[in-house]
Amino acid sequence: MFYERIARPLFFTMPPEFVHRLSMIALAHSPMAAALEPFARKNYPALEKKVFGLIFPNPIGVAAGFDKNAECVNAWPRLGFGFMELGTITPKPQPGNPSPRIFRLPAQQGLINRMGFPNLGMDAVARRLEKIKAAGRWPRIPVGMNIGKNKDTPLEEAGRDYLACFRRTRDLADYFVVNVSSPNTPGLRQLQRGDFLDSILGPLRDEDPQALRPLLIKIAPDLVEEDLVEIVAAVEKYRLVGIVATNTTIDKTGLPLQEQGGVSGRPLTSRSTEIIRAVSRLTGGRVPIIGVGGIFNAVDAREKLEAGATLLQLYTGFVYEGPLVVRKICGGL
Ligand SMILES: Cc1cc2nc3c(=O)[nH]c(=O)nc-3n(C[C@H](O)[C@H](O)[C@H](O)COP(=O)(O)O)c2cc1C
Repeated sequence: MFYERIARPLFFTMPPEFVHRLSMIALAHSPMAAALEPFARKNYPALEKKVFGLIFPNPIGVAAGFDKNAECVNAWPRLGFGFMELGTITPKPQPGNPSPRIFRLPAQQGLINRMGFPNLGMDAVARRLEKIKAAGRWPRIPVGMNIGKNKDTPLEEAGRDYLACFRRTRDLADYFVVNVSSPNTPGLRQLQRGDFLDSILGPLRDEDPQALRPLLIKIAPDLVEEDLVEIVAAVEKYRLVGIVATNTTIDKTGLPLQEQGGVSGRPLTSRSTEIIRAVSRLTGGRVPIIGVGGIFNAVDAREKLEAGATLLQLYTGFVYEGPLVVRKICGGL
């Protein structure tokens, strides 16, 4: 109630990226996460899952993009999350697109963003994680690393960027996600097609031929059936352990704001569920799916699980529902 009546209305008077920055600082450097923990975190033994060799205390994770630079690694478990996906990181640091680059759609419970992978670069993020490890403060929930390419890297050379990010962080995360689905890096989504997929996934597989590190691919919700068939074939060929479905959509039909970027939240809910259902059908349910896109409550979560997802993530639901959202969803499940 406090979040909906007081915090959210206050936050929504301020620019979205500023609120995000403020929240990250509060979660990273103050006793905020510790203060929230008694309200936000609860054990749900019945929800524990073992997926691709990792133990997830519950299936609700922080989606990529929220903690791009691994600033709040110790806060996410306190807020009840069952896992976190850091990044997207790129080999070199980059500033992303000019601000403003996040826009709210309050009536639709959505966001449009065109961040363009602003991040400190793989070295700075890796050093941060090395420090946490060395200090014995490694979180007890699985940590994923979402990897991407720099804006100025030509698509033909993208494979090198993904490989560099993987090499740098391979001992600093529990699973890895090849992000070929952000709409905000020019041409990136073309990497979801056959030849390009080979040029990225081939070198990654050669780097880890025994598939010791769980590797997944994150896909766009705007793919058609034949794209999905191609992706599922690549998942099998390169022995990926899962598919993250989905990133934001470029479809802004019916939305009152037509800013360039990707749409997340409620306007994405059913589309991402349909992609999960299609992927699950194409893989015969054999490949774990991390379902993401417009999850706000237990009903949304259950719909995605019933469509074939094994794990779930949220970003926009956290913005609209607040820091107790994981507990509410887990309790409902
Ligand atoms: C502001 C913002 C930044 C994001 N940045 C990334 C990113 O860096 N990498 C990525 O794979 N997805 C990114 N995403 C996509 C989310 O991880 C997620 O796939 C998408 O928002 C749908 O989930 P949601 O409806 O719960 O937000 C971002 C989303 C938002 C809203």
